[in-house]
Amino acid sequence: MAVSDRRPLVTVAYAQSLDGCIAARPGTRTPLSGPESLAYTHRLRAAHDAVLVGIGTVLADDPRLTVRLASGNHPQPIVLDSRLRLPLSAALLRHPTHRPWLATTHAAAGDAALVEPLQALGAELFPLASDAAGRIDLSALLAALGGRGIRTLMVEGGAGVLTAFLAGGHADRISVTVAPRWLGGLPALTRPLALQLHDPVWRDLGDDRVLEARLSDREAA
Ligand SMILES: NC(=O)c1ccc[n+]([C@@H]2O[C@H](COP(=O)([O-])OP(=O)(O)OC[C@H]3O[C@@H](n4cnc5c(N)ncnc54)[C@H](OP(=O)(O)O)[C@@H]3O)[C@@H](O)[C@H]2O)c1
Repeated sequence: MAVSDRRPLVTVAYAQSLDGCIAARPGTRTPLSGPESLAYTHRLRAAHDAVLVGIGTVLADDPRLTVRLASGNHPQPIVLDSRLRLPLSAALLRHPTHRPWLATTHAAAGDAALVEPLQALGAELFPLASDAAGRIDLSALLAALGGRGIRTLMVEGGAGVLTAFLAGGHADRISVTVAPRWLGGLPALTRPLALQLHDPVWRDLGDDRVLEARLSDREAA
């Protein structure tokens, strides 16, 4: 089925341990992918128009979200940040080619003391409707991204954001790198979730196994 509503095709991509954890402890960064699967993740980034993380991941990891281990363009970086907590020291504010897009709430976007320092450093704000919990309404976000010409979106985490995209039915594809270790830490999913994957393909990349599968019939426009 072709994308008719201009909502981007969404790939949820993350790395986990054998016991389904994405970090050793909440709020900390735990490198999980080996060199081969990490290079694969960068190729996946290069194949998407935009890459999105939650503010929790920015605070924990300070990611650059650039394509460094593959050839291709950097995707547009996007942060879900309802309260504009992005630190002014964030690496994303020194992105080599893109102004980061901050998806935020109308309330935060109306607070000049929060907004102006971020805009001065190049951030572009996307004020959006919020859900009942005061977080960004993901349907509104995807519609806005479609309107800005984003056809493919890679969602890299963390746990809260992965769960929100999967539970909300917003993910069309999944790419999960499974590293051969246990962590006993932060689970990828923050609440129980039953989802059927279709057409799963497993591939060995170095010591890791990467699962790719489909959650919907949609295809990129
Ligand atoms: N292994 C991997 O592949 C991988 C990848 C990425 C991250 N991580 C790890 O994941 C951890 C961070 O995960 P996290 O769960 O703390 O943070 P997160 O998922 O990155 O961000 C969650 C935050 O995003 C904001 N948000 C806004 N709208 C939202 C919505 N609709 N749904 C969900 N969140 C929304 C909320 O903060 P506000 O209310 O302030 O907006 C929420 O607390 C870190 O330890 C990091 O290292 C691992």
